[in-house]
Amino acid sequence: MSSPSVNPLREGIANRLAPEPCTLVIFGATGDLTHRKLIPALYNLAAEGALPPSVSIIGFARREKTSEQFRTELEEAARKFSRTPLDEELWKSFASSVHYHRSPFDDAEGYRTLAAEMDRLDKERGTAGNRLYYLAVAPDQFPVILDHLKASGLNRAAEGSWARVIVEKPFGKDLKTARALNGLVNEVFEERDTYRIDHYLGKETAQNIMVMRFANSIFESLWDSGHVSHVQITAAEPLGVEGRAGYYDTSGAMRDMVQNHLLQLLTLTAMEPPTSLGADAVRDEKVKVLRSLRPLRGDDVFRHVVRAQYAPGLINGQPVPGYREADGVPKDSVTETYVALQVNIDNWRWAGVPFFIRTAKRMPKGGTEIAVTFKSVPRVLFNSTGEGLDENVLVIRIQPDEGVSLRMSAKLPGSSLRIEPVKMDFHYGTSFGKATPEAYERLLLDAMAGDATLFARRDEVEEAWTFVDGIEEEWKTRKDDLAFYEAGSWGPAEAAELAARHGVTWRRL
Ligand code: BG6
Repeated sequence: MSSPSVNPLREGIANRLAPEPCTLVIFGATGDLTHRKLIPALYNLAAEGALPPSVSIIGFARREKTSEQFRTELEEAARKFSRTPLDEELWKSFASSVHYHRSPFDDAEGYRTLAAEMDRLDKERGTAGNRLYYLAVAPDQFPVILDHLKASGLNRAAEGSWARVIVEKPFGKDLKTARALNGLVNEVFEERDTYRIDHYLGKETAQNIMVMRFANSIFESLWDSGHVSHVQITAAEPLGVEGRAGYYDTSGAMRDMVQNHLLQLLTLTAMEPPTSLGADAVRDEKVKVLRSLRPLRGDDVFRHVVRAQYAPGLINGQPVPGYREADGVPKDSVTETYVALQVNIDNWRWAGVPFFIRTAKRMPKGGTEIAVTFKSVPRVLFNSTGEGLDENVLVIRIQPDEGVSLRMSAKLPGSSLRIEPVKMDFHYGTSFGKATPEAYERLLLDAMAGDATLFARRDEVEEAWTFVDGIEEEWKTRKDDLAFYEAGSWGPAEAAELAARHGVTWRRL
């Protein structure tokens, strides 16, 4: 595929609200998320000139430290995790906007002094009374922080300003807890001021799904049960549980990945064209897909879903222990690290098209993709003899090597007629010659701009839980369906059988 350069004349097509000056308060500022994701993302935005210069950042946490110490720690983290190398001058100027506010989360005085600090920054830096609160803490800390924000009135903005909250996953561990959490958040912040992060939505290629579908005329006319034979959505990781056993063992792949990231990718793939690009118009269409998912109950769960756990094996030739041997994992854990599902979307467009979803840890290779396989051509002409021709497959690579490829049949050069599959391939890196921004960069900017399109709305989260709860409930009734797979393999035989029942083979990434 040729490499188009970005045409500056077309920039008018960009559809984007501008981020506004604000004070970003990160609760849980000494944690992993702040170090690995938030600060590197904010630094890169500042380095690109995308962050309004008056944005101030306040780290709110319990540990004793000064702003100076906090900045030094963040600098180290940014050196390690930033996608671009740190520039001394830029870092210095960025770091001057970062402050540390020490307080327990349950101390009213800490919120009073926070308010005073924000007022001071408003005057000094012109942050216009806008507040963005980021709950980068474990969910059991949400209630106390939200209660205090409400009691201190920090959830309400002055006339002409705004106060928003960003909530990190997990949004509950089932429908009941998700509803309770959503209820709690919505008692303190309006839904329009609530930004639930699903970082997959911030990935550049996830955003491209809608662009591909609705900014091109060639795909959408084929995007239905008349032309598509099946869809596979895969998120594979070579990593294991990586020291997160406490959380992961109570969650498992279904809650950790399917309920949020993978169902979100499914909605973007299957949704109807929205009436506009407004946040609610887009999310209205996405939630309809979730509502159209055929519920899985009773024995159907075991027919449509395979769960499995990794056993010891080899990753890149190196031996790795099994899940049950990982630190903090009970020796008899039945938590799934692999899940494969076949789901149906019972609506007009997709009736009869099987969708396959798969996610796992300790796979031979990491990668996330959506593969849309089209129906075979009729068994006439070139397709009349032999095993038949390969179907056309459109693959949207979410990560790594972001891009889109299309498999087609072509004639092998020569006097005899041989037909081989070939690939048309578009790579972001080579086509645009630009590094792909991190998901958190986009999402932080959008929250500052008041654009909630790429954030999960309350009803989306709850519909996704309704679907997942049906499976989890049934799983509780037995354990003998849990399969095992060697770390570094592509998963258990049971998953291959699930796909084979539909004449499908799981793709190798
Ligand atoms: C997180 C999950 O939400 O997503 C992790 O909790 C998983 O278990 C991660 O590893 C995957 O994200 P990414 O961006 O690395 O694909």
